[in-house]
Amino acid sequence: ANDKVQVEERLSKVCEHLKAEVDYYTWVGFYFKNGDKNELKLGPFAGEPTDHTIIPFGKGICGQVAVSNKNFVVPDVSAQDNYIACSIHVKAEIVVPLFKNGENIGQIDIDSNVPDPFTEEDERFLEFVNEKVAEII
Ligand code: SME
Repeated sequence: ANDKVQVEERLSKVCEHLKAEVDYYTWVGFYFKNGDKNELKLGPFAGEPTDHTIIPFGKGICGQVAVSNKNFVVPDVSAQDNYIACSIHVKAEIVVPLFKNGENIGQIDIDSNVPDPFTEEDERFLEFVNEKVAEII
């Protein structure tokens, strides 16, 4: 049931669905810890392809969440020094860690072309999405 291809198809659908249903979700993707390396690897996503398929722990918003284990809401990406730009149109970002059996194994990352769009409702919703995802991976 946890066949890798099936899981990737399902996560890809989750990304497409979130992007389609929430107007300020411009790019939606999952990053996962890459084996025993200290880096994240891009998984399924919806939106424009990104060059940043590997992100070292600590680098950018994603890399910081890999080590902090905490949600990171960025209302204005231009105010961040430790930020990796994927598109010049992106104004804001939210990254929510994904826990499996209590371990931070990856994250959902959402970019928005709208300034400061993310609320606590997004945080709670994306935590819920990640809990559901953890059950199928
Ligand atoms: N902006 C992210 C990099 C990933 S892209 O948004 C898809 C960051 O600073 O970690």
